[in-house]
Amino acid sequence: MAINHVGILGGGVMGGGIAQVLAGFGGYRVTVRDLTREILDITRETVVESKWGVKRAAEKGKIGFDQAMRTLELVSYTLEVGDLAQCDLIIEAVPEQLELKQTVFAELDDLTGAETIFATNTSGLVVAEIAERVSEARKSRFLGMHFSNPVPVMRMCEVITTPVVDSQVVDQVVEVAEKAGRAVCMVKDQPGTYGFILNRVFAAAYREAKQIVDDGLATEEDVDKAMITGRNWPAAFFGNRGGIGKQW
Ligand SMILES: NC(=O)c1ccc[n+]([C@@H]2O[C@H](COP(=O)([O-])OP(=O)(O)OC[C@H]3O[C@@H](n4cnc5c(N)ncnc54)[C@H](O)[C@@H]3O)[C@@H](O)[C@H]2O)c1
Repeated sequence: MAINHVGILGGGVMGGGIAQVLAGFGGYRVTVRDLTREILDITRETVVESKWGVKRAAEKGKIGFDQAMRTLELVSYTLEVGDLAQCDLIIEAVPEQLELKQTVFAELDDLTGAETIFATNTSGLVVAEIAERVSEARKSRFLGMHFSNPVPVMRMCEVITTPVVDSQVVDQVVEVAEKAGRAVCMVKDQPGTYGFILNRVFAAAYREAKQIVDDGLATEEDVDKAMITGRNWPAAFFGNRGGIGKQW
């Protein structure tokens, strides 16, 4: 089955950015679903007008005019979950609450055909637990696609695999991510942990940074300065963390 039409559940900080790169780079038809017209208007504005939106990217020469136009043409916005029924792949980007994610996936499981692939953009919840309430058959078509914020400029996409996911599904999702200009990082789901690669490594580094400060060995400013000037990190732990969105 070819992937042509991608649904995005949740048009917040992440959903808009994911839609933008899937359409703009990947050429996929994308439908974003959220709960109110006001939120969807903000999603559309983010894709088009924001700091990372296609208008400014085209003006700055980061993307071509054609790509900007293609994004506008390919992304649509809806309040109706039924509009995702025909999607080949659905990427969930609702808030980071296990119960909510389980509920929306159970609803999507009833709504969509057997072939539809489900992906969660969770920052670190266990993917197999998010998949707990879908059918056994769907579990083999269920994995994680963890994008980084702001999506148009942060190229990473962790593809998180469970023990039961079908290898062809993994290949298809990797292809989608790569066509959308992402740098794919493969990682296995692990019960009892939070954060895959990116957020586990960052959390470990943050724990050390905080310990150094709490022990009175260095100031926050000097810890940040060490990482920024010694490792060329664009930002560190305590100061301004750049484009990172409201949940981070
Ligand atoms: N913000 C980040 O930096 C970041 C980075 C990587 C991953 N994530 C993960 O992405 C997911 C979304 O995070 P976000 O920052 O975009 O959150 P957000 O709060 O900005 O957006 C979530 C959106 O989901 C919508 N929503 C809630 N229930 C819904 C439903 N049933 N159907 C459709 N839409 C619904 C909300 O109205 C909201 O617009 C979380 O799992 C988060 O951990 C966030």
